[in-house]
Amino acid sequence: MSEPKRATDTPIPVEVEAGKSYFWCACGLSKNQPFCDGAHKGSSFTPVSYTHLTLPTNREV
Ligand code: FES
Repeated sequence: MSEPKRATDTPIPVEVEAGKSYFWCACGLSKNQPFCDGAHKGSSFTPVSYTHLTLPTNREV
C-alpha cells in the first residue's frame, strides 16, 4: 500500500481532552477513525502524534 485510503468524505466529530496525546490515522485503514488502531502495520504509513492543547480564555478583570 503506497497510497493512503480515504477514510471518509465528511468530518468526524470527536471529543478530546486537553493535555492528552492522540494518534491520528494517516493510512485510512483504521476502524476507529480518525484515530490509529494499528491497521497500518505492514504498510509504509505511521500514525501522526497529536497532543491537544487549549488556549487561555479571555477573562474580564
Ligand atoms: S491505522 Fe492508520 S495509521 Fe495506524
